[in-house]
Amino acid sequence: MRILPVDPRTLADDELAMMHGILSAVAAHDHPELPAESRGDLQARLAWPWPGCRSACWLGLDDDRAVGLSWVTLSRGANAAVADLTLAVLPEDRRQGFGRGLLREAVRLAYSTGRTSMIGAAADEGPAAGFVVAMGAIPALSDIQAVLQVQPPPAPDDGDCGDYELLRVRGAAPPELLTDIGAVHEGMADRPVGDAAWTHQPYDGARVAAVDAMLDARGLVQLRVLARHRPTGEVVGISYVIVSTRSPHRSEQGDTTVLPAHRGRRLGLRMKTEMLRWLSSEYPDVRELNTWVARDNAPMRAVNAELGYQVAGHWTQWQAPVAELASKLGLV
Ligand SMILES: CC(C)(COP(=O)(O)OP(=O)(O)OC[C@H]1O[C@@H](n2cnc3c(N)ncnc32)[C@H](O)[C@@H]1OP(=O)(O)O)[C@@H](O)C(=O)NCCC(=O)NCCS
Repeated sequence: MRILPVDPRTLADDELAMMHGILSAVAAHDHPELPAESRGDLQARLAWPWPGCRSACWLGLDDDRAVGLSWVTLSRGANAAVADLTLAVLPEDRRQGFGRGLLREAVRLAYSTGRTSMIGAAADEGPAAGFVVAMGAIPALSDIQAVLQVQPPPAPDDGDCGDYELLRVRGAAPPELLTDIGAVHEGMADRPVGDAAWTHQPYDGARVAAVDAMLDARGLVQLRVLARHRPTGEVVGISYVIVSTRSPHRSEQGDTTVLPAHRGRRLGLRMKTEMLRWLSSEYPDVRELNTWVARDNAPMRAVNAELGYQVAGHWTQWQAPVAELASKLGLV
């Protein structure tokens, strides 16, 4: 196998076609129930990482035929110790050492830049379990993937949330809300992460603006529903959905959180219900919402079940110490 490093920010057309071809073939084989990611969405995701992150990619070529890829993302800030891995080999080319060879490149970069943990997600029913165990990884977090068929909420909104009001914010947050939105994202700080090395990346207004700019560059629209506490004017809850104009059919339900002092008042359910009302009236092309939730996150899973989300898959975040991987792969 020949390894070809490719720059995700400036991929040539043939490089993008190879990466898209591999990820589409792997998804169609291993997860036929998932809609394929469009080439434009993949290109945008590669070219515009999250603020403070950078990515590197390698293609594995066998006689000039692309058989696999590895893609590693490194962050600054709270998660500077973690390397986030995507690794894929075409179904018909597995068990020939390509996965190991592509992983080696990702580990070389992670090791040389001082990362200590490598994390990669894989479906529990998929082919990865044997590979990750052979590489010495351990399960760090169990995730549930769930999908909701979008329909208007059955009950009309009586508009009465007691001390709280719900606000809709479309696209980039207005400057006067940046600080409040940054502060409410801090509600994610106590979410369950199992044994994963991830830590909460603190949010502030500057990060909100940077994420908005990244989403805009990717051609994505963020719809936020906020819960505001009327007596104090404080924003105490947020739920957001990301819609791609290229592939609105299945859109992504992002984080939903309520600040600890305001939990237990069904604000999570109310914000998500308001989002369904908004999508049904203004975004009819959004037919499904996809979401990820930790298996240990009972409150969020209960809200999702009440809304009608159906479990679509069980996934594990696998984690391995970078130094051990480097040793196992003969790098040190
Ligand atoms: C995981 C994946 C990348 C492995 O690619 P691969 O090219 O088949 O892996 P390799 O041939 O380098 O395998 C290396 C070792 O892993 C183990 N292994 C790999 N696949 C295995 C399987 N299906 N069952 C048991 N062990 C397996 C073996 O020990 C193997 O060495 P061996 O063949 O000498 O016994 C591939 O199965 C894939 O693309 N899966 C779907 C995407 C995915 O889940 N990626 C997430 C990874 S965290």
